[in-house]
Amino acid sequence: MTAHAARTGVWFIGARGSVATTATAGCAAVAAGLHPPTGMVTETPPFHGAGLPPLTSLVFGGHDTLDCPLPKRAEALAAGGVLPHGLPSAVRSELTAADEEIRSGGPLPGDTRTDEELVASFATDIQDFTHRHGLARTVVINVASTEPAPGADDSRLPASSLYAAAALRAGCPYANFTPSTGLRSPHLREAVDSCALPHAGRDGKTGQTLLRSVLAPMFVQRALPVRAWSGTNLLGGGDGAALADPAAAAAKNAGKERVLADTLGSAPEGEVHIDDVPAMGDWKTAWDHIAFDGFLGSRMILQTIWQGCDSALAAPLVLDLARLLARAHELGLTGPRPELGFYFKDPDGGPAGLPEQYQELLAFAERLRAAR
Ligand SMILES: NC(=O)c1ccc[n+]([C@@H]2O[C@H](COP(=O)([O-])OP(=O)(O)OC[C@H]3O[C@@H](n4cnc5c(N)ncnc54)[C@H](O)[C@@H]3O)[C@@H](O)[C@H]2O)c1
Repeated sequence: MTAHAARTGVWFIGARGSVATTATAGCAAVAAGLHPPTGMVTETPPFHGAGLPPLTSLVFGGHDTLDCPLPKRAEALAAGGVLPHGLPSAVRSELTAADEEIRSGGPLPGDTRTDEELVASFATDIQDFTHRHGLARTVVINVASTEPAPGADDSRLPASSLYAAAALRAGCPYANFTPSTGLRSPHLREAVDSCALPHAGRDGKTGQTLLRSVLAPMFVQRALPVRAWSGTNLLGGGDGAALADPAAAAAKNAGKERVLADTLGSAPEGEVHIDDVPAMGDWKTAWDHIAFDGFLGSRMILQTIWQGCDSALAAPLVLDLARLLARAHELGLTGPRPELGFYFKDPDGGPAGLPEQYQELLAFAERLRAAR
């Protein structure tokens, strides 16, 4: 295999968003040795020798309905403290190269194209990118704005499903890092069942839900019944604005609550709220309030405060997923990959607790290594 053919495409849906911009800039920075790969699980020792594509071999492109140039988007993230000061100029050429590979996607306001025309157009964009760069394969990852769950009577596919269908048509492995429908549309069932491609989803597990997936098993294992689990999130940025729509927030919260139901056996009392606070930008504060019972009915409370930079949490995981799915595709692995449940709030099967999910991921790394 030539060095050229061994390059791997990463096609972001939502390529100008905070997560995609941070992943694109971050990959260039780590590949150039400017920063360590903090938060990238695939850069830890269990993954050495697993045949994952090196970060230096990744080529970025994608779809976005926004037309702000990627270097400018990166400057805005640096001004908000998401990217280190000076990083956008240090990786400007990589950002410019990725920017030239971003297509406008859709549906755009007033778009008259049918679903079939949109899928065909998106698939052509992805195939064109793969062929022009002579890539061995391209992994498509959805990091676009969260959309409301589609209604039962909707005759059109949601945008996330149009892109997911396009990924399959273009012969690409696919991951849905958002709570949007993606491949989980009943209209795509046949295409998914017959696609012979590896795919994983949905909704990245990066902050509050990551913590929940660690804490919930603790209560179960110590036989401490959880009476109520309530949570509140404050965040800004594009994600905060998108989640100000109650229908989009409902899609997101369903994933957060699912982790508790899966682990505790039933959903405890309590809700999750998301408040858009634009001044916070990509920084999120998440509070959890957990009421639980102790011996002889003593009533106790655990409260947690998580303060994180959402894009910095998500970007390394997105790069991990691109590399793992590329390698799975190279080995001919197909279908939903429960081994990647470690990364998702709403995974494709597998255990619900983080330690068990990590063990599955390590076993997957071993399988990838053994196939060399
Ligand atoms: N950051 C995290 O920790 C985290 C965790 C889990 C899930 N997510 C999800 O990742 C997604 C991205 O988050 P973000 O902070 O980057 O949001 P963002 O608002 O910064 O970026 C979203 C991008 O999607 C683009 N977009 C919207 N509709 C589109 C369409 N039809 N076609 C193509 N592009 C479209 C927007 O123009 C924007 O550039 C969100 O759905 C979020 O819920 C993020």
